[in-house]
Amino acid sequence: MTPSRRDFIERSATTYGALALGIPPVESTIDSTHDKKYSSNPLKILFIGGTGFIGPHMVRVARKEGHEVTLFNRGITNPHLFPDLEKLRGDRDGGLDILKGREWDAVIDTSGYLPRLVRDSAELLKDTVQQYLYISTTDAYQTYNIIDINEDAPMAILQDPTTEDVGSFYGPLKAQCEREVREVFPNRSTVIRPTWIVGPGDRRTDLVYWLQRINIGGEVLAPGDPTDPIQIIDARDLADFVIHLLENKTLGTYNAVGPESELSISEFLYGIRAITNSAINFTWVDAEFLSKKKIYPWRDLPLWWPPRDDYPGPPGMSIGGGTGFGLISRKLSISAGLRYRPLAVTAKDTLDWFFTWAEEWKDRQRSGLTMEIESEILAAWHAQHLKYDY
Ligand SMILES: NC(=O)c1ccc[n+]([C@@H]2O[C@H](COP(=O)([O-])OP(=O)(O)OC[C@H]3O[C@@H](n4cnc5c(N)ncnc54)[C@H](OP(=O)(O)O)[C@@H]3O)[C@@H](O)[C@H]2O)c1
Repeated sequence: MTPSRRDFIERSATTYGALALGIPPVESTIDSTHDKKYSSNPLKILFIGGTGFIGPHMVRVARKEGHEVTLFNRGITNPHLFPDLEKLRGDRDGGLDILKGREWDAVIDTSGYLPRLVRDSAELLKDTVQQYLYISTTDAYQTYNIIDINEDAPMAILQDPTTEDVGSFYGPLKAQCEREVREVFPNRSTVIRPTWIVGPGDRRTDLVYWLQRINIGGEVLAPGDPTDPIQIIDARDLADFVIHLLENKTLGTYNAVGPESELSISEFLYGIRAITNSAINFTWVDAEFLSKKKIYPWRDLPLWWPPRDDYPGPPGMSIGGGTGFGLISRKLSISAGLRYRPLAVTAKDTLDWFFTWAEEWKDRQRSGLTMEIESEILAAWHAQHLKYDY
């Protein structure tokens, strides 16, 4: 079994689950900062999930827009959130009974990883819910080796339909979940494929790596070619988009990727620098040198992957980059109403949020280089690139 990008998500998620039980986090520090752009008729919305990272942002937008929200989950993750909302407790694996006979205009399924469970919830709700909105992922595509991947690109195939190994087959499982939703809710479903989701409340450590590293200052290792493209989406932009789609009863499949125009790794790093006060200089270390030193994209240098089909990822990682990495099409989503806040806003808000969470962050397993390894690599790089060899 080869771990996928999902493993790197899960690695953090394990700690995250433990933290989930009582950290102060999100409610007091985060809000959707978008101006109201959308007209709304009040909807009754059921979340299957809703209390982790992306769910709360969606819940807040839904409430701000005047919709009536019900949460269904096990009551394990951030149970203190939204005390005034209706909360239905249950495990989606065999424990959906509490939803029987209840009616909603729409369901937002943020917690579906296994086709069997997504099918169960869709089947149970098909006669009492109008629209099923399923949160998938761009990892559900067969490959990142295509430039400008649009929503019709080939999807990953689950070779063993019985597998429930989310760590190894995250993308193919999500692709199959999508198929289940479409089959049970024909012409009544919406599928969202986000790329890497960032923003306040995100306890994985990818954007946070760059934020805190640049905030510390000094010489920072900047990976690859400054023009290498990257894509992220602010969870709050995703939330605005999702609620907008429900308000407009928009169906179909959408890549939720940002930002609006292409973002290079250098624009990203300099964008973060712009919101800090640190004295800093970037040293660009090329991809070949990094791979020779066994410094890998994503695991060691988060959110970056050189746009090449043959570039090695961390050992054992099955899904990775490709020529199309960072170049997934957002055209359809923009035409359906996806809007983006500036990178500076995402970076500043996430850094501010990070300071409320930094104590826990210190002790956790995380992605990104340690300062010691970064210094070693920089020293080796400089040694090979001495201008004068006296
Ligand atoms: N993070 C990224 O970069 C990224 C990128 C692309 C796609 N995605 C997608 O984003 C979604 C995850 O976002 P999130 O975790 O932040 O969502 P969330 O809705 O904020 O949190 C997950 C929710 O699911 C509930 N849940 C978990 N297991 C459950 C079960 N067996 N039965 C009932 N409820 C359950 C949790 O509550 P309890 O624990 O209390 O049950 C929690 O409320 C996934 O669909 C993932 O594929 C993420």
